[in-house]
Amino acid sequence: MTIPFFMPPGVAFASGHFTAENIITKTTRSGDLVGVFHDEAAWRALPAGTTIYQVEMLPSPDGEGELFVGTTHLNPGRVGDEFYMTRGHFHQRREQGEVYFGLRGSGLLLLQSEQGEARFEQVSQGSVHIIPGNTAHRLINTGSEVLSALAVWPTIAGHDYASLAQGFALRVFLWEGEIQARGVQYG
Ligand code: F6R
Ligand code: ZN
Repeated sequence: MTIPFFMPPGVAFASGHFTAENIITKTTRSGDLVGVFHDEAAWRALPAGTTIYQVEMLPSPDGEGELFVGTTHLNPGRVGDEFYMTRGHFHQRREQGEVYFGLRGSGLLLLQSEQGEARFEQVSQGSVHIIPGNTAHRLINTGSEVLSALAVWPTIAGHDYASLAQGFALRVFLWEGEIQARGVQYG
């Protein structure tokens, strides 16, 4: 008997690129990241159209129990001394978690609780990151190649960027030739 089958979408694990129809892509450029980087003068000096990262996603149905699958491709580079990074967010539905898988490049996943406690996980090819609920997350590319990470998250999770308007508690810089994290002073 011939087995009836549906050809599922595919992902090239070396790059995170999908093979599927109707891939959704979103590009985030320097000009979109107002107030994200520490050195405002260096950020202004960068052309606003500079691509910082791209997300490609498979289309998914909406609703409780459904999942999104997407890859973030974060370019290498710095704004002043600070490494390129994603905007970062809490999920609108705070209790919803997410899983990231490192595919290529090297960097950091910055995780932060609602109480402002921040920590890092090293992202590299094959790394698995279980982001718990109630935890803000941001990718930082500390390497010289594109950092790509595959993510799976509930479609109902949503994004809350506004709650991080003050930014994360830690920033990552290249300082005297070394990758260094610094606490952020507010006020
Ligand atoms: C989805 C998720 C990732 C990010 C992507 C871009 O919940 O965590 O797909 O959306 O890495 O980062 P943001 O959304 O912070 O601009
Ligand atoms: Zn997320």
